[in-house]
Amino acid sequence: MYYTALKHLHLLTVAITLGLFLLRGAWMLADSPRLGARWVRIVPHINDTVLLAAAIGMLGVGGLNPLQQPWIMAKIGGLLAYIGLGTVALKRGRTKAIRVAALIAALAVLAWIIAVAFTKQVIPGAI
Ligand code: HEM
Repeated sequence: MYYTALKHLHLLTVAITLGLFLLRGAWMLADSPRLGARWVRIVPHINDTVLLAAAIGMLGVGGLNPLQQPWIMAKIGGLLAYIGLGTVALKRGRTKAIRVAALIAALAVLAWIIAVAFTKQVIPGAI
């Protein structure tokens, strides 16, 4: 029961992180000043904290040990890569070419994390 609630919270925040990241990516591409708005710099972090908290809660409630579940380790690694690439794409990338490349890479990592989540396989589709 509790696990299901946490999973729904996790899924809700996954949808929000995806939506906000796409929105901010579009603003970066359009050189929009909206990227620097106060809420844009705060809300995604709160959402991502809830996303991770729900994930850790599921591990606790479900008695899942990440060290014994390669797909969970893959998601944690993927999340770190997504955060790093996302920062380069939206903030730190010095040229637009670098930011665009980081944006594409971040979206690819995000797609991989979601595929790993659904298949529970580090290489989704592998036998
Ligand atoms: C941006 C990062 C993440 C995304 C996009 C994401 C996405 C998802 C999705 C789409 C599901 C649903 C899978 C299904 O319905 O079968 C899911 C489930 C889950 N995720 Fe994440 N996740 C992320 C990060 C994490 C992290 C870092 C952890 C662990 C520390 C984690 C742990 C879990 C667990 C335990 C489940 C439930 C699996 C199940 O019971 O079927 N997630 N995630």
